Amino acid sequence: MNEELHKELSLVKEQLLQNISDFDDLSALTRSTQLRSLYSRITDIEPDQRAAFGKAVNDLKNELSELITKKDSDTDLQEPIDITAPFAANCEPAKRPALLSAAVGSQHPITAELEIISDIFMSMGFRVVQSREIDDDWHMFGSLNFPEGHPARDDYDTFMTEQLDKNGKPLIAPAHTSTMQNRVLRRFSGDLAEGKPIAVLIPGRVFRNEDIDTRHEHTFYQIEGIYVGLGVTIGNLISTINVFLESFYKTKIEIKTQPFYFPFTEPSFEFSISCPFCSKSGCQVCSYSGWIEILGCGMIHPNVLTAAGIDANLYQGFAWGCGVDRLVMWKHDVEDVRNFESAKLSFLRQFSPENYK
Ligand code: DAH
Repeated sequence: MNEELHKELSLVKEQLLQNISDFDDLSALTRSTQLRSLYSRITDIEPDQRAAFGKAVNDLKNELSELITKKDSDTDLQEPIDITAPFAANCEPAKRPALLSAAVGSQHPITAELEIISDIFMSMGFRVVQSREIDDDWHMFGSLNFPEGHPARDDYDTFMTEQLDKNGKPLIAPAHTSTMQNRVLRRFSGDLAEGKPIAVLIPGRVFRNEDIDTRHEHTFYQIEGIYVGLGVTIGNLISTINVFLESFYKTKIEIKTQPFYFPFTEPSFEFSISCPFCSKSGCQVCSYSGWIEILGCGMIHPNVLTAAGIDANLYQGFAWGCGVDRLVMWKHDVEDVRNFESAKLSFLRQFSPENYK
């Protein structure tokens, strides 16, 4: 094969290799314009070069196919189980579809950890109320003291429906569990009248328009906490979170707070803890700083209490919001947050009852 044809082939090979990750399967490769144009070139080529060129194109195709097949078998896809597949209930057992037995299944690690977290808070007298997965502008922003058009709204960029609510605003996939604050404060304000505090933990799934990588997902979990009563102080806030984290990580933890800004708390803090995994000596989890930033919190803004019909001159409260995926990643050495939503059985099996600790 002459020099020119050789060059042409190497150029196409280089292009295809560069884009190899875009080919989801072998047929995508066969359909690629580059490969198809090489095949259609064969008939134009001088007869004495044709056989060699044809063979070289075939070799190239085989080489790339091998790479794609290898990539496919490396990628850990969910094993398909068609639970809707029909079968005769009375057929011999050997002929029945092989479904996973319930004994092999297990709770998702986030669900399992949320139960542990809820138990810890229930032992401190908190009720647990699930958050919701679709909400409106008022609960997402208005009730939380975000003025209309305020730039702080931009930090909560999420997904919206084309359908509008009764105020003409799109419905929102909540970007945080704080959307539940107004509802929960209203629902349990009777507790205050009876002289009891409002103490509620709100676990839920939240959504953000994120650039996705090992540490960022568009869908993840948060726990929101609210506590309102008489004479509530920042000291109560810090000690409540401290007790929770020490129970969750089963180790002594030091706390550091930095001032921060959230429209719905005043003052607001970012809460860091001494790294539970290296006792501050430095490790990968804490990026060798000895501390990890764990949540946002603060004293509930009087406007938020007022919006829920609570007398802000009489009552005070604290609230916090914390990403659950990260708590679980640190606890179980999970490297990539995307594993949680991936349905990869090899990932999930690590959390089956016999492996779960
Ligand atoms: N909702 C905040 C977020 O997702 C976290 C948060 C901060 C929640 C302070 C709170 C709070 O309840 O008081 O970024």
